[in-house]
Amino acid sequence: MGYEKTFSIIKPNAINKNVIGKIMAQFEENNLKIAAAKLSKIERSKCEEFYAEHKERPFFGELVDFMTSGPVMLMVLAGEGAIAKNREIMGATNPAEAAEGTLRKLYADSMGENAVHGSDSPTSAEREISLFFEPNEIVNE
Ligand code: CMP
Repeated sequence: MGYEKTFSIIKPNAINKNVIGKIMAQFEENNLKIAAAKLSKIERSKCEEFYAEHKERPFFGELVDFMTSGPVMLMVLAGEGAIAKNREIMGATNPAEAAEGTLRKLYADSMGENAVHGSDSPTSAEREISLFFEPNEIVNE
């Protein structure tokens, strides 16, 4: 496992709740560094590329509508076992199944509007980071 980078998004519903700082604090308190961050709006075509693996799913259109509906915080998180650690901090995709204290338990509204995204493997982390960040934007590894 070792020192890793992972990709994280604070989704539009969490931005609406004004909890960017609280979410970033959870990462920092769990020994993840904010290696890169930008508040941004995702273009529809970029969002479709990002979620390409879900293209055939019935919720794809809804997912892209939601993720392009408002600003998001795009981040690279770095640290020991960052990929698994971030997933633990986020909790289950379905907030009904998310453990107490996890970001999704605290801030998700539904399966679709589930507050945060995190890469699920080293391969996705690499793909997702390179989709949204140039290497020279990752300034705090
Ligand atoms: P995320 O981690 O961003 O990756 C894919 C997203 O698809 C997931 O979070 C959910 O927000 C969304 N998703 C997964 N399953 C469903 C579902 N059954 N209905 C609606 N959205 C879903």
